Amino acid sequence: MEKITLGIIGAGRIGKLHAANLAANRNVRIKTISEVKIDPKLNDWADSLGIENVTEDFNEILNDTEIDAVLICSSTNTHVSMIIQAAEAGKHIFCEKPISLDYCESSQALDAAQKAEVKLQIGFNRRFDHNFKRVREAIMEGNIGDIHIVKITSRDPAPPSKEYIQASGGLFLDMAIHDFDMARYLTGSEVVEVCAKGAVLVDPVFSQMGDIDTAIITLKFANGALGVIDNSRKAVYGYDQRVELFGSEGCVSISNDFENNAEWSTSDGVFRDKPKLFFLERYNDAYIDEMNQFVESLLNNMDVLVSGNDGLQAELIAGAAKKSLDENRTVLLSELKATLK
Ligand SMILES: NC(=O)c1ccc[n+]([C@@H]2O[C@H](COP(=O)([O-])OP(=O)(O)OC[C@H]3O[C@@H](n4cnc5c(N)ncnc54)[C@H](O)[C@@H]3O)[C@@H](O)[C@H]2O)c1
Repeated sequence: MEKITLGIIGAGRIGKLHAANLAANRNVRIKTISEVKIDPKLNDWADSLGIENVTEDFNEILNDTEIDAVLICSSTNTHVSMIIQAAEAGKHIFCEKPISLDYCESSQALDAAQKAEVKLQIGFNRRFDHNFKRVREAIMEGNIGDIHIVKITSRDPAPPSKEYIQASGGLFLDMAIHDFDMARYLTGSEVVEVCAKGAVLVDPVFSQMGDIDTAIITLKFANGALGVIDNSRKAVYGYDQRVELFGSEGCVSISNDFENNAEWSTSDGVFRDKPKLFFLERYNDAYIDEMNQFVESLLNNMDVLVSGNDGLQAELIAGAAKKSLDENRTVLLSELKATLK
């Protein structure tokens, strides 16, 4: 393949972002975007990026023999059937996280992609972030030694809308799933035990949706390491994304990214601007790299950098966290894996 021809399903927040980033890649032609809510503004936007067609029916993408690969950026509850249909149509697939709201269904989607021998990359963009990549390098180079403790802080600046919460699958599947993936990615070890505590401290709307807005999740890894993740849907000072890994030979940590590194000191204290606002700002470069790497793996027939199995493993951890919260006990990952056929 000299140039990759793509179709994109879903022109919401993330679909539009990926489309804009891919439009800047000279190895890519975006032929079609499908969106159930088409308006004139969407057509103008697509024109401005050189996208050739806008359609309400994603089957137009799947039936188009010129299209090599499809990006699934629609709401989570649509992903599984789209992956299965895209695989059957022989398209390579990039699918946003989470693969689905039910890990058994996600597993079926992975089977379909494997059977069709198409590539399937999952949207764990943080793996492409310069800070997290450097932490992983330090670990892989042995600078930290054997990992003993993983600490991840992941807090959003503000909660999403009620409609979004309702369809999101809950805090563990929608939000903490990035942290579960990061924990596996940085330690290079699978999670074997999960214990989660949750609370509604930000907005009672989360209770009405049967969800939580605050969580502490402890993890035990196959290599013996222990982990702790804390999540909040509202950090008043901005997007808070930090990790620390402590091991037998040392410690590595990253703090937040800022728009600038200006710091001023007065008689009242030492001050600086808040961290970058949210995921679109903090991970802008990571999203670009994520798309470019997906295209590279198609052009050069290489493995994708975030596999379908990575998506499934993170969903299993999310499922274990939910079960732990609901049943007020530590849950073994093997309990969930036993329910996969
Ligand atoms: N990796 C990340 O950082 C990240 C960030 C945000 C969202 N996401 C994920 O991306 C997905 C979309 O999230 P979003 O925030 O962009 O949501 P969104 O609601 O802004 O966009 C989803 C779009 O898909 C469209 N859609 C739904 N069904 C469709 C269909 N059958 N055909 C075509 N279009 C359809 C909707 O009309 C909507 O415009 C979710 O799975 C979410 O979890 C990932």
